[in-house]
Amino acid sequence: MKKILALVGTNANFSYNRLLLKFMKKHFKQMADIEIYEISKLPAFSVDVPLEEQTEVWKLKQKVKAADGVVFSTPEYDHGIPAALKSAVEWLSYHTTVLKHKPVMVVGVSYGRQASARSQVQMRQILISPDCDANLLPGNEVLIGGATHVFSKDGRLINEEMRDNLEQCFTHFIEYIQVFENADEEEVEMPIKQPRISEAYIKFPTGRLSLKEVQQIFSTIPFEVDLVDSTDHFAWYSDKPNREHVRDVASLGEPVTECHPPKAVPAVMAIINSFRDGKRDVVTRPLWMNGHRSLIQYYALRDVDGHYLGTIEFTGSVEYILNLFEKGAWNKGADASTGASKHEDAAPAAGDDNVDASTGASESSDDTSAAATSTGSATNEPTGIEETDADTGASESGSVDADDDAADATTGASEEDD
Ligand SMILES: Cc1cc2nc3c(=O)[nH]c(=O)nc-3n(C[C@H](O)[C@H](O)[C@H](O)COP(=O)(O)O)c2cc1C
Repeated sequence: MKKILALVGTNANFSYNRLLLKFMKKHFKQMADIEIYEISKLPAFSVDVPLEEQTEVWKLKQKVKAADGVVFSTPEYDHGIPAALKSAVEWLSYHTTVLKHKPVMVVGVSYGRQASARSQVQMRQILISPDCDANLLPGNEVLIGGATHVFSKDGRLINEEMRDNLEQCFTHFIEYIQVFENADEEEVEMPIKQPRISEAYIKFPTGRLSLKEVQQIFSTIPFEVDLVDSTDHFAWYSDKPNREHVRDVASLGEPVTECHPPKAVPAVMAIINSFRDGKRDVVTRPLWMNGHRSLIQYYALRDVDGHYLGTIEFTGSVEYILNLFEKGAWNKGADASTGASKHEDAAPAAGDDNVDASTGASESSDDTSAAATSTGSATNEPTGIEETDADTGASESGSVDADDDAADATTGASEEDD
């Protein structure tokens, strides 16, 4: 079922355009899941609106991103679209590409016989402007004039001719969306998917891995990993089942400032900039996520010369580890429930739980620098001791919401509802 976002093109309390969208939501419920969005929630567009006042704008952009298609229902004001609708589109085109290649459809209701034709022409021009660059459904005009006569009291479009036309146009819109989806799939499958999982190998100094092994390692380790690259764009996330943060490929390639709730951006940028400046290498945040104790760790990713490559975020539940600890797994002497033995054990024997399955190394060695080495830095080693981040509230453990500063530094999603 296609997900359609439908924007009511006015901020008026009563609107025939809203009525039309409500009718479409019911009438097409077997074809599409239509969510109606009220542009009255948005601030008037201005390049000067501070980021922290753009939470509603951010939420709308997320909805547009998640939608398979967007319907704009426009009244006609003075032969053009209402100022509130123009303002909403400006938000969707300024410093964002959420409308780029997004399938869009224009419908409209007005009192007059011209049936919002002139405002729809304007709306279409706007949607194909370079900063919007939407994939506009051509033709398929839904022109509903004489607004006061064509709806029943309970909000049904009762003009048969108009209803037939609406059905035809909306069906075309759903087919239009499908065409783009198929085209995208072919593009991805042909040059990328096939060779990706074929017999390609990466030779590391410490061994060789096939691409499939790399992918499955990331799917298997109990932490999920996300990467913001050196240009502050969300570049990659590990494809792990039951992720704490649910990611969407639609966010890949977005600037960090774009894919975060505006209120979280200062905290996120503080972490990233401190990594870029070399002031820090790691920030650790214990907190509750999805009902369990979790740990988020941000690391500066650096090359062997220490140049900043990006920020990686590890997130995972630590319930299992904490349960082991609470049961005394590291206490002196073997623990009956886990079979763990104490650190001072002598030479490891086969079958000993204290032995590394692949190498035979024991745990009591002094290998705490491993993680720091991998980030190319000998300072601020992530030794497992929490580094509380005063600027970002990094050590907080309470629940947070999407507007809270405690947002996910990689993609901006908050921990509780992400
Ligand atoms: C400021 C203003 C300008 C309008 N200009 C036009 C117009 O140019 N053409 C037209 O057909 N209707 C015009 N109308 C009437 C609207 O079509 C009518 O109010 C319609 O119901 C608006 O859509 P809505 O009910 O979704 O708000 C205008 C209404 C307002 C408030």
